[in-house]
Amino acid sequence: MRRLKTFIKAYVQDPGWLWFVRKYKTRMGWQARPYEVYYQQAKRLCRNVGEIPKTVLPAVRQFNEQGWATLQTPETEEIAAEILQVMRSEESDGEDIWNEAGQYIKADVWRKFPNLEKVFTGIAGEFIRGVYECEYKIWAGIPYKSQRQADKPTGSQLWHFDGKPGTCINLMYCLGPVGPENGAMECMSWEDTYRLFVLERKQFRQWELEAAKLSKVEVRARRASFLKEKIDCDFANRVNQPKSNGGMLFFFRNNLLHKGGFVSSGTERFVCGFDMYPSQNPPPFDEYRARGIPKTTNYPKDPDF
Ligand SMILES: [Fe+2]
Repeated sequence: MRRLKTFIKAYVQDPGWLWFVRKYKTRMGWQARPYEVYYQQAKRLCRNVGEIPKTVLPAVRQFNEQGWATLQTPETEEIAAEILQVMRSEESDGEDIWNEAGQYIKADVWRKFPNLEKVFTGIAGEFIRGVYECEYKIWAGIPYKSQRQADKPTGSQLWHFDGKPGTCINLMYCLGPVGPENGAMECMSWEDTYRLFVLERKQFRQWELEAAKLSKVEVRARRASFLKEKIDCDFANRVNQPKSNGGMLFFFRNNLLHKGGFVSSGTERFVCGFDMYPSQNPPPFDEYRARGIPKTTNYPKDPDF
């Protein structure tokens, strides 16, 4: 019986998991099914979303092929600069606006910076609807400031995936300049991400990890160093790192391998991160204006939130 169990685990567990990762574009595996079912239903109900505007069509195509894309317009530049200017002046007034994790704590971003709505009713919204082929909603939004705090990259500065449902699209709104010197985000395409997940599972078979009773921290550390080595050796020329003078919208699939925020000494990086999900209805902006878009949990437990 034990041998049969081991056999099943060795030959079924990892291939089965990878099949679901491919299908639902998330490491949640089969548990992501309700999110995908809700998404397909939203697409059926939103036939009125219509044609994708020409302004965002190349970015939508790129996103569908690669799992990431960027957009930048004079309006996104202007609104980003306005937000950054407010934050800078709060800083120079000596206010404590960032917590230890670099998150903006002074106020809810949507309520504090109402011009953000223009970005979403404008080009960001056009893009997201073009990708989803249905309406969308925002789960949470938080500005971040990255500064040099350690000698080596740690946490989200190492290659990782966010592990939320595959229907989740992340948006990094770059409020200031981003480039290699200030830890501009780097990502792999979805195809390369999936290839790396396959290699990783060959290296660390789930049933072997379970049998070895390793802690989550230990598993994460081993995985991060494996991914770094593999990417540096075999995928180095396939890493994407878009640059901007400020105002860029960087969209990427939530489970894409990515990292960012390890800045050179003396430089800083200001971004605002948003999590978006497909929806049957247009985004409830009046609700966002009233209650903001704080992060209550990592991801919505109900896709129909
Ligand atoms: Fe992340």
